[in-house]
Amino acid sequence: MEKILVTGASGQIGTELIKALRVKYGKDLIIATDLKVNDSLASGGVFEILNVLDKPRLEELIINYDIKIIYHLAALLSATGEKDPILCWNVNINGTLNVLELALKYNLKRLFIPSSIAVWGSGIPSTNTPQETVLQPATMYGVTKVAGELLCDYFVAKYKLDCRGIRYPGIISSETLPGGGTTDYAVEIFYEAIKNNRYTSFLSENSTLPMMYMPDCIKATIDLMEADFDSLIHHSNFNLASMSFSPKELAEEIKMHLPDFEMEYAPDYRQAIADSWPQSIDDSSARKEWNWKPEFNIKTMTKDMIEKLSVKYKLGEF
Ligand code: SER
Repeated sequence: MEKILVTGASGQIGTELIKALRVKYGKDLIIATDLKVNDSLASGGVFEILNVLDKPRLEELIINYDIKIIYHLAALLSATGEKDPILCWNVNINGTLNVLELALKYNLKRLFIPSSIAVWGSGIPSTNTPQETVLQPATMYGVTKVAGELLCDYFVAKYKLDCRGIRYPGIISSETLPGGGTTDYAVEIFYEAIKNNRYTSFLSENSTLPMMYMPDCIKATIDLMEADFDSLIHHSNFNLASMSFSPKELAEEIKMHLPDFEMEYAPDYRQAIADSWPQSIDDSSARKEWNWKPEFNIKTMTKDMIEKLSVKYKLGEF
């Protein structure tokens, strides 16, 4: 089996992807990397410090561990990206370029480079947004994701590099908090609901956005990486959907479990970002090309989140 390196392993998706990859392929084959030491990742397997802008260090890790596959998750998200757009461009684009360049140099077998719903902006149908449509993002994060998709597809076409990616919707999870995204409210709300029975949303009540529960996100990521390359028509830009809801709809669902839960709304600068994104997505290409099918909906996700976080809260973990 090939060795797999994951960048941004301490992030929301990274922590759970590492766990899943270690279970699936064995912990010695998975090299988790991030900017700072992560004791919990390090205690369960291999962990190395890596800043994705440090190309010599990335090269050293590829050589030392004989890496054949990279999941490149390190990136700045939409809200953080708007606070420092130049840093966002630098990390997201130059980090990706380093991975692509070294993948060519060392003949890597496969790359996963994620994209996002942030690739969309004006000029799209906001419901059931098609796979093929204009990409006019309103954020620097979106600009880097569009450029990232194009870069990957260029490397696929020009060098036959096997590079794959998904346009992730907002991801909801109970393990690691997301950092700096516009969809983060849909995670924070659960922590606050369990702790304080109330939450003030930074998006307005009717801001419907595409979302996905982490188990589906991990399944989609690994399934796409295991799909037969010849059956893929798209590569780096798969639309992916599972559920769409507004803050108000999520609050109502939470109230089914916690009847005293109260929600308030104080939209901030992230509202404009949310307004530029679609409400729902047509993911028929992913369904056709690699049999994507989600398992969770708002009801099953909410029940599971509340159960998992209630246990963590009782254990004093937040
Ligand atoms: N969850 C991301 C964000 O909000 C979207 O990909 O920035």
